[in-house]
Amino acid sequence: MKQSFWVSLLGAVAVVAVARGGGDGEISFEYHRYEEMRKALVSVWLQCPTISRIYTIGESFEGRELLVLEMSDNPGTHEPGEPEFKYIANMHGNEAVGRELLVYLAQYLCNQYQQGNDTIIELIHSTRIHLMPSMNPDGFEKAASQPGEMKDWFVGRSNAQGVDLNRNFPDLDRIVYVNEQDGGANNHLLQNMKKAVDENSKLAPETKAVVHWIMDIPFVLSANLHGGDVVANYPYDETRTGSAHEYSASPDDVTFKSLARAYSMFNPVMSDPNRPACRKNDDDSSFKEGITNGGAWYSVPGGMQDFNYLSSNCFEITLELSCDKFPSEDTLKTYWDQNRNSLVNYIEQVHRGVKGFVRDLQGNPVSNATISVEGINHDITTAKDGDYWRLLAPGNYKVAATAPGYLTVIKKVAVPHSPATRVDFELESMIERKEEEREELMDWWKMMSQTLNF
Ligand SMILES: *[C@@H]1O[C@H](CO)[C@@H](O)[C@H](O)[C@H]1NC(C)=O
Ligand SMILES: *[C@@H]1O[C@H](CO)[C@@H](O)[C@H](O)[C@H]1NC(C)=O
Ligand SMILES: [Zn+2]
Repeated sequence: MKQSFWVSLLGAVAVVAVARGGGDGEISFEYHRYEEMRKALVSVWLQCPTISRIYTIGESFEGRELLVLEMSDNPGTHEPGEPEFKYIANMHGNEAVGRELLVYLAQYLCNQYQQGNDTIIELIHSTRIHLMPSMNPDGFEKAASQPGEMKDWFVGRSNAQGVDLNRNFPDLDRIVYVNEQDGGANNHLLQNMKKAVDENSKLAPETKAVVHWIMDIPFVLSANLHGGDVVANYPYDETRTGSAHEYSASPDDVTFKSLARAYSMFNPVMSDPNRPACRKNDDDSSFKEGITNGGAWYSVPGGMQDFNYLSSNCFEITLELSCDKFPSEDTLKTYWDQNRNSLVNYIEQVHRGVKGFVRDLQGNPVSNATISVEGINHDITTAKDGDYWRLLAPGNYKVAATAPGYLTVIKKVAVPHSPATRVDFELESMIERKEEEREELMDWWKMMSQTLNF
């Protein structure tokens, strides 16, 4: 289990010769156990080494690696101005479809890139994409080890400690709901509290690793892949009053609906208004056009989706991809066919809204500057190079850039559906402004004294 990644890598080199080749036809639509999944990811890396990289963000409770395949024209680095995207699947170990779809997606992107598909080349050149097929590899192994095709509805859902990872994140909704009343912070609610996260013994190792990942990389957009129903679910997941079902709009409700639809509309099953409920007694009354507000469906405290939005700049939705959590292997190709265009189209949504750089008058980047939009009570911040991405639905907006010690700049922006409108800000420091004002005063004084012949 603890065998080093690089040692077992050698075993995978042999596989690559077989894996080389074309489009969908070359993808083998089967389940991948832990070792097989690792080999499949390594094969992609070996096939497309200039546009991919494998890394691990930590280990599960039982010591399996939390593997990520990155796809980008510059693997391993954040390029100033280039947005970062992530897909996470299999957080519930028994929800297996998303896990396989991310493996197929990696193979598809690599194949299409090599075959010169302009859409995919453009996407990989303009985006840093991170794919984590399994956030709960221990749970998956447990679920997959059950004999026979029929899997239990719950076995393998939790991690090896029995923790439901999608209830295990710091509950920032409770903080933001108080702040909405009292006027407190509306973003980055874990700022300066990383140490408290590390020392929190209630957080599973998988959760801690993902919390760090979310806070360390300037992700802009994300989706969390689940199974058990078919819908695209958007924030907030946790209701304001604690009621079990209640529409819980986030400040970015319009944008989130548009993002969720960008997934559901390309999936013929999800968007089908006549799709019967997965099970007879399911309450799908909150589903419209294949999307639902999380709280309106059922309240989820401590979930990963709301945590992304409230702890970082990342907008995340939750995708339910199949009525069966662990369907039989011969249906996996069908799920790929239903979801392929949605998976690609959703990544492209990272290129919407407003983006640009915040710099001072000397051209130095201003990191951690606040970007706020009039009428939307949720700010985002600039990354290290002063770069920012503010996802927005089409419309006219007033966007402000603020940083301590600088004068705020406000700009009017028209946002089309896509691509993102480029808006850069130049901030003047208050010290510079004082200096300017002093000089102006001196000039005026000189002029006055000359005219009046003092
Ligand atoms: C290129 O990729 C896009 C996005 O996945 C897809 O819709 C299109 O069919 C692909 N083109 C070819 C020629 O395969
Ligand atoms: C970013 O700015 C906020 C407030 O403006 C501050 O509390 C926080 O410590 C800053 N973070 C970093 C990493 O500098
Ligand atoms: Zn789930």
